Amino acid sequence: MEYREDLFSISEEGFSKDGVPNNGNKFILANGYMGYRGTLDGFTKDQLAAFTLAGFYDKVKGKNGETVNAPDPFYIKVYADGIPLDPLFTEPESHRQKLDLRRVEFSRCTSFAVNGKKIALCSSRVLCGDEYRGALSTFEITSDTDCDVEIVCGINSDVWDINGPHLEGICFKALEGGIICESFAQEKHVPLSVALIMDGIKADGFSGGIMKTSVSLKAGKACRIERYVAVCYGPEAGEAEGIARGLEAKGMKAALQAHYDYWEEQWKLNDVEIEGSDRAQLALRYSIYQLMILSPRRNGSIGARGMSSQVYKGAVFWDTEVFMLPFFLANDHRIARNLVMYRIETLDAAKRKAEHYGYEGAFYAWESQDGEDACSDFNITDLFTGRDVKTYFKDKQIHISADVVYGIDGYIKRTGDTSVLYEGGLKTMLECALFYYSRGYYNYIKGRYELLDVIGPDEYHERVNNNAYTNYAAYATIQCAISYYNQVLAENPEYATECVNSVKEGLIEKLTKFAAGLYLPQPNCSGVVEQYDGYFKEEDVLVDDVRKRLVDPREYWGGSAGVATATRVIKQGDVIVLMTLFPEYFSPAIIEANYDFYLKYTEHGSSLSPCMYAMDACWVGRPDDAWKWFLNTAEIDLNGSAKQWLGGLYIGGTHPAANGGAWLTAICGFAGVNMRGPEITLDPHLPKDIQSIRFCLTDKGRTYRYTVSRKGVEKEEL
Ligand code: BGC
Repeated sequence: MEYREDLFSISEEGFSKDGVPNNGNKFILANGYMGYRGTLDGFTKDQLAAFTLAGFYDKVKGKNGETVNAPDPFYIKVYADGIPLDPLFTEPESHRQKLDLRRVEFSRCTSFAVNGKKIALCSSRVLCGDEYRGALSTFEITSDTDCDVEIVCGINSDVWDINGPHLEGICFKALEGGIICESFAQEKHVPLSVALIMDGIKADGFSGGIMKTSVSLKAGKACRIERYVAVCYGPEAGEAEGIARGLEAKGMKAALQAHYDYWEEQWKLNDVEIEGSDRAQLALRYSIYQLMILSPRRNGSIGARGMSSQVYKGAVFWDTEVFMLPFFLANDHRIARNLVMYRIETLDAAKRKAEHYGYEGAFYAWESQDGEDACSDFNITDLFTGRDVKTYFKDKQIHISADVVYGIDGYIKRTGDTSVLYEGGLKTMLECALFYYSRGYYNYIKGRYELLDVIGPDEYHERVNNNAYTNYAAYATIQCAISYYNQVLAENPEYATECVNSVKEGLIEKLTKFAAGLYLPQPNCSGVVEQYDGYFKEEDVLVDDVRKRLVDPREYWGGSAGVATATRVIKQGDVIVLMTLFPEYFSPAIIEANYDFYLKYTEHGSSLSPCMYAMDACWVGRPDDAWKWFLNTAEIDLNGSAKQWLGGLYIGGTHPAANGGAWLTAICGFAGVNMRGPEITLDPHLPKDIQSIRFCLTDKGRTYRYTVSRKGVEKEEL
């Protein structure tokens, strides 16, 4: 692989206060265990600085549960003659910040002119790839004149919370050369410790976790502070000091090298090289970076906003199975298995949710926090009245159970690992199928089963009947459950029988009858599948016209009074999602007819939307149409173009589903890889802007490198 630094890093020159929130997302670091927003040393919750811990949830009574933010050990401020060397307060002479995607390292250099002296602050930070509970930072202060500076640093426990405060019993203990902050998350009293050891500065005299000291700088000679950090929680909380000390004993150079080596290995299989467009190459690599840094280190899954904050409560949505899992299925089957097992292991919670609504089987959480539904009843705040608006996302978005099954099926197909079937996978599929069976309604007049009162991915139209995506996805779930049941029956009849009987007696017969009678909306004479019963009768008005009806640009488009609610305008294309996930049910001509029909009505109010159109565009031979959707998706966190507000709710943060969508478009769209069959096949559709695309895929234990160009497809085994 040719290494070009400009295609493996992003950077920014100059400082703008307005850019701070978005840069927090754009320059983020994470290591699958914790994430640190791309803010500058010394920034606080006012600048949305956050050190988010994946999958560590806490709930303050009366508020929404969310992931916990740890106290910040990277807090450091420098003053010269009492003037803060901080671009928020003192105009810098120059400022540059950079995210090295290859090394997963953030760095910045800011220089100030203060009373005739030039003082530069240059720092770097990593969240260790190898020892994932550890983090490292270097901080250098250099002056062109002998002078004294004051340094204020330590652990800042005043963290940013959306629904907090979560941490209680915060106490600081001095360590040799540092400090430790101990606390616990209030709901279940889970302990959390953050240890900080500093070299290059005398670390004592802390008060409330923060110390002040004065340092005499010699002209041209840097004062270098090295920080060794560990963040541990739960049963591991007692290990924080030992881990930070272990890193210190290794030394900064060796500890950093171990981190770089770890990521070098990850890039080897995961990188995708694009020839012809540097813009596309960088954007795709950035998307891959975002996905790689979210690979869970333990059992667990990935939240819809990754580790970029507590937005969306750190919860797991269908984003993971449909948009992110394929990336991990390409080469990292261990992570893919973790993601799939997360759902299998939370089956009981899904069964409880189904029971709560009076159904049988498994109804998965729309916003899962350890399997429990974290989605609130009132997701939107009305901008004009300030009142909470009831939404039915968690009650009616029943396609989530089908998405879970889609994920398990994809995993087994690609890895050949059927062990998950015996570890709860088969039961999960049967329970999900049973849920649809029990949710089904038999329409005696029409002589068919229907799924009524649902919400499809297009959340602007709530409580509709026979949503096309939902009905087909439920059908596919049942087919999948029956087919895997038959496979297990042939291999291990005793297990299969015991499993199916534990779900419901006579289930297979019931499912077979239900699937045969389930209504699957068919294309009309123009080839278009109606999104839900009565969709064609909604007001025929286009996106821009509906946009003009907004009184405030932050208004929610759906809900009872939304501008899109009674129109054909949709948040994302349900029928397009259907045809992208299940192309086997439709001919290319039908896919093209639906692409053309729904595109004009799609607002793309979700970052999940454009990539689905992009893949369809490729498959119908219009890859140049897909190009703009690809760039839009891949650059979403680079240009900060995504919606920041939903009514009164802040929904900023990173967009891992879009990152996954960018990867899907490149691999399954442009390169035309079909990962859903028994074997991998390719039917490329390269847009004119790119000459070739090169990537690795691992199929049932064997890894191949593919090069797709206009000359054809080359494949070599690694
Ligand atoms: C979308 C959902 C998505 C969620 C999290 C919502 O805006 O409508 O489809 O799962 O965001 O990304």
